[in-house]
Amino acid sequence: MRIVCIGGGPAGLYFSLLMKKLHPDHDVTVVERNKPYDTFGWGVVFSDATMQSMRAWDIESASEIESAFNHWDDIEVLFKGTRQRTSGHGFVGIGRRKLLNILQARCEPLGVDLKFETDVDSDLQYPDADLVIASDGLNSKIRNRYPEVFQPDLVVRPNRYIWLGTNRLFDAFTFDFRKTEHGWFQSHIYKFDDRTSTFIIETTEEAYRAHGLDKMGQQGSIEFCKSLFAEVLDGSSLMTNARHQRGSAWLNFVRLICGKWSHFNGHSHVVLMGDAAHTAHFAIGSGTKLAIDDAIELANQFQILGHDKAKIPEVLSAYEEKRRVDVARIQNAARNAMEWFEVVGRRYADTLEPEQFMYSMLTRSQRISHENLRLRDKDWLEGYERWFARKSGLTVAEQGRCLPPMFTPFKSRRTALPNRIVVSPMAIYSATDGLINDFHVVHLASRALGGAGLIFAEMTCVSPDARITPGCLGLWNDAQMGGWKRLTHFVHSNTASKVGIQLGHAGRKGATKVAWDGIDMPLESGSWPLISASALPYLKQSSVPKAMDRDDMDRVLNDFVAATRRAAEADVDWLEFHCAHGYLLSSFLSPLTNRRSDEYGGDHDNRARYPLEVFAAVRAAWPADRPISVRLSCNDWFEGGNTPEDAAIFSKMFKDAGADMIDCSSGQVWKEEKPVYGRLFQTPFSDKIRNEVHVPTIAVGAISEADHANSIIAAGRADLCAVARPHLADPAWVLHEAAKIGLTNIDWPKQYVSGKSQFENNLARTSVLSAK
Ligand SMILES: Cc1cc2nc3c(=O)[nH]c(=O)nc-3n(C[C@H](O)[C@H](O)[C@H](O)COP(=O)(O)OP(=O)(O)OC[C@H]3O[C@@H](n4cnc5c(N)ncnc54)[C@H](O)[C@@H]3O)c2cc1C
Ligand SMILES: Cc1cc2nc3c(=O)[nH]c(=O)nc-3n(C[C@H](O)[C@H](O)[C@H](O)COP(=O)(O)O)c2cc1C
Repeated sequence: MRIVCIGGGPAGLYFSLLMKKLHPDHDVTVVERNKPYDTFGWGVVFSDATMQSMRAWDIESASEIESAFNHWDDIEVLFKGTRQRTSGHGFVGIGRRKLLNILQARCEPLGVDLKFETDVDSDLQYPDADLVIASDGLNSKIRNRYPEVFQPDLVVRPNRYIWLGTNRLFDAFTFDFRKTEHGWFQSHIYKFDDRTSTFIIETTEEAYRAHGLDKMGQQGSIEFCKSLFAEVLDGSSLMTNARHQRGSAWLNFVRLICGKWSHFNGHSHVVLMGDAAHTAHFAIGSGTKLAIDDAIELANQFQILGHDKAKIPEVLSAYEEKRRVDVARIQNAARNAMEWFEVVGRRYADTLEPEQFMYSMLTRSQRISHENLRLRDKDWLEGYERWFARKSGLTVAEQGRCLPPMFTPFKSRRTALPNRIVVSPMAIYSATDGLINDFHVVHLASRALGGAGLIFAEMTCVSPDARITPGCLGLWNDAQMGGWKRLTHFVHSNTASKVGIQLGHAGRKGATKVAWDGIDMPLESGSWPLISASALPYLKQSSVPKAMDRDDMDRVLNDFVAATRRAAEADVDWLEFHCAHGYLLSSFLSPLTNRRSDEYGGDHDNRARYPLEVFAAVRAAWPADRPISVRLSCNDWFEGGNTPEDAAIFSKMFKDAGADMIDCSSGQVWKEEKPVYGRLFQTPFSDKIRNEVHVPTIAVGAISEADHANSIIAAGRADLCAVARPHLADPAWVLHEAAKIGLTNIDWPKQYVSGKSQFENNLARTSVLSAK
């Protein structure tokens, strides 16, 4: 086979040497526009896993790389005059120049033809090649020749960064955060050889411009950075080596995803590799790793399917299929980490205390969790847990393990929750005439016995026509209030849990069948008239709601107030005001469902006007010493609908009106929504609202392990975690999760204590067996 790699970066060089090594008959050429020992960039970092597979594929180059590596374990964060350090993070760094030189030197004896100082314009320059590797980096000319085929999706990110070096040596991966009069700057610093450390500085576009960095030359920028980071530089200089490569000193990171990775140009098969195919932000240092892993996988597929021209199409599609999954996973983590640095100034740096700031930074990619941090640095994590527990009001010993964040208490007004796990409201469609019956009491009380700090019943409707289905709970009469009293009495007298009620009105989503007869499907008989912000049916077959007039507004407001009073009288501890999921109040907030032209439609103030009127009346009727949370759909997941930015605006309005917490849900507003599900998928909304609006929040959505909840709460991404479906699967989810993370000093109900140690011992035995 004749193989031409256009671009001699890590991807092109490593692939060439592997192919020549595996099959010396291949004719392999690397064409590179730079000189052999000429390259941009300072150090790059690798993971141990990549190094391990490099060792398996080519021990010669791996040994050379390993002997040139700088290994370090610690991360140090400099922030607001504090210096915090944690260990166990295991990175290796190497100069990019050194890495390329090792790969070049390895290519030569294997017989790879290295052609330097040749700028290639087109893959068609090599018509005799069977395979052309487009390893020509992010700005790949080869990829750009076929935009319809490769479908590159390039997103220019908002932050500015400059990639510099310094001769000061650092013994930890160091992050230094500095505040200026125009905003925050952060540096990412790591040593990569005996004389040099990489020093990347990042800031927002606003701060960059406000300091006039857009108008300064490279030297001006260096002087500015030197003075800003003088303390950490401790007299050393900053250096650039990118002058010949890039026009501007400050760059924007470009995120790239391609729809397809290979193409037949009429003569040769062309395939993308490394940065030409995808990019991952330097916040998790994975660009070189991905390039090397691509090279390995393509060589691997030739090994599996055969080093034969005829096999190329099959090999390329297997390569793409395999790599896509891994690349997507890394890009996802890199996106989280990148976004953390993009918002750090406005969201975290002025909000979180140094200890929590550090935790938030360490978990920024959301791949490193609480228990993962324990494995990396137990002492540091236990110290952080003690700090968090003390902040939550617990008295803890100076040393040793204390209660992890999700098990710390939380108080809002008079309501003191024993821990931070909430049973999220879940409709169970089992009521008649809105009455709590035995099923509700048994169902909810079991979750209280199972250890959750706050138990929400399902959305409880303020009038018969406010119900979603005939099976929904209601609170419009005293008989219903009696059922609530029974529930609160049992929970208060037998557990430490508190009881919450979620008051709502179904609006345009009302008069439907119970879930198991068809979610959202209109009732065939016994229906009732619907109301909403505007006269838009939810489904084509749903009945058309009436756009509410003033009388309707007054009536619904009074119904909310009456239900609130009854809830207070029933000794409910917490009220949640349901403004999410497309129900009545949510239909006012979303521009998709609110098409009104009066003062209740239009901008944010107008759309929130009616929900806020009702909220104010509820707040006034609800005892001043009990909290109210507001549930919002923080993303409509549909073009033209509310975004997290809008949710933050509404959160501020509710906070100013006296809301104690925002419960950050999303969606269910518009039938054609396109939600992006995944682990903790709504937590970013909670993080944003909590730390930008400065109001406590509840995170909810695909939180299914103690490790998730601890990570969220410890990082200050939420104050409470609501867990819904896992509580349907396991009423004692909280007690069981405690046992799973080895926490045995959690109280079980006294009636169940005999089951506790057996459960814990069995778990411990299973984990020992599975570790064998
Ligand atoms: C600030 C910053 C920090 C980074 N930090 C890290 C890190 O810590 N860890 C990490 O793993 N990665 C890091 N990266 C990313 C890393 O540099 C790249 O992801 C990696 O080098 C990709 O390898 P590649 O071979 O695909 O492309 P490149 O390394 O970009 O190589 C492409 C090669 O093609 C050549 N070329 C381009 N066009 C032509 C042409 N027309 N003709 C001939 N030759 C051509 C170029 O000269 C270059 O040598 C960082 C990137 C930046 C910007
Ligand atoms: C069966 C069921 C019923 C639900 N009913 C309600 C409800 O009445 N009110 C509400 O705000 N959310 C309701 N939800 C949404 C949950 O409260 C929660 O936000 C969602 O299920 C995501 O959490 P999870 O991933 O832990 O399940 C319901 C969810 C389920 C599964």
